[in-house]
Amino acid sequence: MEVFSQAGGEMLSRWGHYMAGVTWVGLLYYFNFVQAPSFAEFEAAARTEALSKLVPRALWWFKFAAMLTLATGIMILGFQENLSGGEYFKTAPGISISTGILLALVMFGNVFSVILPNQKVVIASAGSVAAGGAPDPAAPAASRKVLLASRANALFSIPMLWFMGVTSHLAPAYAIHPKGGNRGIYWLITLAMVIVLELNGTGRLGGTAPGGTRAYLDDHKKSIIAGFVLWGIFVAMWELLF
Ligand code: HEM
Repeated sequence: MEVFSQAGGEMLSRWGHYMAGVTWVGLLYYFNFVQAPSFAEFEAAARTEALSKLVPRALWWFKFAAMLTLATGIMILGFQENLSGGEYFKTAPGISISTGILLALVMFGNVFSVILPNQKVVIASAGSVAAGGAPDPAAPAASRKVLLASRANALFSIPMLWFMGVTSHLAPAYAIHPKGGNRGIYWLITLAMVIVLELNGTGRLGGTAPGGTRAYLDDHKKSIIAGFVLWGIFVAMWELLF
């Protein structure tokens, strides 16, 4: 086997990619499905201690895993031979990985523009309380933003992981060159869905209050169901358009 070759480079990038991806998304699921519901039942003192000793460690791994996932994902693209000529992105595998990358980039943006900065406010407030000071009045709103963006990311991760895996393992079974017009319709619907879900999940579309248009983010179980519904819409589009 030639590890030190283009194919070897691609394989090593893939290995690093899914190890980093598992770490990122594994922690995302831990935050959503384990930590948030547990914290809601914790005594205030226990929550404060966990926020200053446990959460920063989890966030360190979360942050660097997200960065490494992106870097290794770009490396896979760089090592791939089939990207030359620009035709790749018109094929079924090209459209599949582009959809996965779009979802992953939105998730990445949520980590660095919403989750980490707002968690910093929450952790600093817990630190102040632990030191005998007052909590930051901005902390509850920051915590709510983290919760929503984190649930939106769990939702996006479900179709995202489908497209990451399907690209090499299933998409070649679809027509190789989906018709241009159908590609246009696909991207129009995809972008519209992702933009609306993202604006809604970050509170830019009507605030961060529970219920209403954000009811699917009210708890993690609803977010998981919404993720599978989004996945179903994608699968239906692939069946009907390609
Ligand atoms: C952050 C932006 C990301 C980029 C640019 C990216 C890019 C890629 C690329 C180019 C591939 C190869 C597709 C192919 O088979 O041709 C891939 C596969 C994959 N990605 Fe990502 N990805 C990203 C995020 C993620 C995340 C967050 C995960 C979470 C676990 C992930 C998990 C995977 C997995 C499991 C594969 C399949 C590997 C295989 O079948 O060999 N990716 N990704």
